[in-house]
Amino acid sequence: MTTPVATDLSALPTLSSQLNELDEAQLNGFADAAIALITQATAVPELQELRVQLTGKKSSLTSWSKQMGQLDADDKKTYGGWLHQVRSRISQALSEQQQQLEIAALNAKLAKESIDITLPARGGQKGHLHPVTMITQRMQQFFVQAGFNVATGPEVESDYYNFEALNIPSHHPARAMHDTFYFDAHYLLRTHTSPVQIRTMEQSAPPIRIICPGRVYRNDSDQTHSPMFHQLEGLMVTESSTFAELKGLISEFLQAFFGKELTVRFRPSFFPFTEPSAEVDILDDNGKWLEVMGCGMVHPQVLTNCGIDSDKYTGFAFGMGIERFAMLYYGIDDLRLFFQNDVRFLQQFG
Ligand code: DAH
Repeated sequence: MTTPVATDLSALPTLSSQLNELDEAQLNGFADAAIALITQATAVPELQELRVQLTGKKSSLTSWSKQMGQLDADDKKTYGGWLHQVRSRISQALSEQQQQLEIAALNAKLAKESIDITLPARGGQKGHLHPVTMITQRMQQFFVQAGFNVATGPEVESDYYNFEALNIPSHHPARAMHDTFYFDAHYLLRTHTSPVQIRTMEQSAPPIRIICPGRVYRNDSDQTHSPMFHQLEGLMVTESSTFAELKGLISEFLQAFFGKELTVRFRPSFFPFTEPSAEVDILDDNGKWLEVMGCGMVHPQVLTNCGIDSDKYTGFAFGMGIERFAMLYYGIDDLRLFFQNDVRFLQQFG
């Protein structure tokens, strides 16, 4: 609803309502006075009201125009010209004023809403790498400096690469520990990064020094297990690799990774693909042993499976969970936090 706007037309000259009593000067004077009123209008509604009063059905101008029909041909021409003159001058003044008022209104609005570009910026949020990626890179950095190359392999693996070639035949009890996601009798989601060892040894001759970071999958989910997680595998095969070298490398890695002196223990264990095998523990600040990875000397049968002469070459291998290292490094007790992607959690690692 628009509120009615009062307009004061008293400034207009009082002219006769009879067209044939008027002359050109009077009509021009009327137009001048009307234009003066128009240019004084300060708001669009006021101008609209003026338009109605000056040119609308009940205006003097319209009433004069209506009388045109009663004039003879000569007068029609004369008065018609004058009236046309008056109406077009008034119309033009109305539209010009309308434009001015609209510009003024826009400028006033812009001035009110103006942005102070001299204010200091609030600062955008910058993203950063995921903590699991940062930990992977931290691990890689050590091994790359030690002369290892980064290798990768498929996440959809065959039973052969994930198990058979690693000395884990079907019905081997070790399979039960893997909670494997199978597609069919032959294909599965790899349960560890160890198949990349096989693929690498099949394709390249010793000396071999690789690490393989990547996703692995197991049907297991709780505070310390996730159906998808990451491992980093290591493999070195030369004519002279020894367990002593493995121990030295892993101890160096753990101290470099955690950035402090550590007590490291190699505890005898079993993996089908290594012989002898060990699990590696570190002593935490509370005097508790924490298991951090598995390792061992590559089983001669595994070398043979890949066409590598096990009389000539020896190798060692190791495998660790990347999230496990991330949890220890950052002091996080729930693995699932890494995969929920809650920004409140993630932004603490920026
Ligand atoms: N593949 C083992 C696992 O997922 C970890 C592992 C243990 C890898 C010993 C190795 C190794 O290369 O030598 O549990």
